[in-house]
Amino acid sequence: MFVRISLFACFIAAFAVAQTTKYYRPLGAPVKMTNETQIHKLAVKVMAFYNQINSDDYYYIYDITPLEATEQLTSAMIYRLKLKIGKSDCNKFVVTDIKACNFQDNAVRKELSAKNVVAPWEKIDKITFDL
Ligand SMILES: *[C@@H]1O[C@H](CO)[C@@H](O)[C@H](O)[C@H]1NC(C)=O
Repeated sequence: MFVRISLFACFIAAFAVAQTTKYYRPLGAPVKMTNETQIHKLAVKVMAFYNQINSDDYYYIYDITPLEATEQLTSAMIYRLKLKIGKSDCNKFVVTDIKACNFQDNAVRKELSAKNVVAPWEKIDKITFDL
């Protein structure tokens, strides 16, 4: 009898935890990211990939304030980041540390929408861009 009661108690506890988690992080709906450190890390990661696949000789950099940053929990974690980017004064073949780069004087800014799908348990970490 005691065992049965404890199992039942465990079940209720697990259910309560699931409800709490659900309350703070709704499954399926994108929510605004609020953690500045996390947003910054995401921006650095996204721009590193953008510069890697971009054939331009100059690095692109971004305005420090993102236009949009959301996260969405589905079967994976989906991060969406919209940045205002522009060409920097750093030539890829000369400069390696992008932190020292500034926008070119006449740099046209454009919006870059990035999606980062992360599912560590399936070794997935994929970035795509809407251009
Ligand atoms: C923000 O994100 C960083 C990096 O992921 C993490 O170490 C830190 O604990 C987070 N801070 C808060 C307040 O959640």
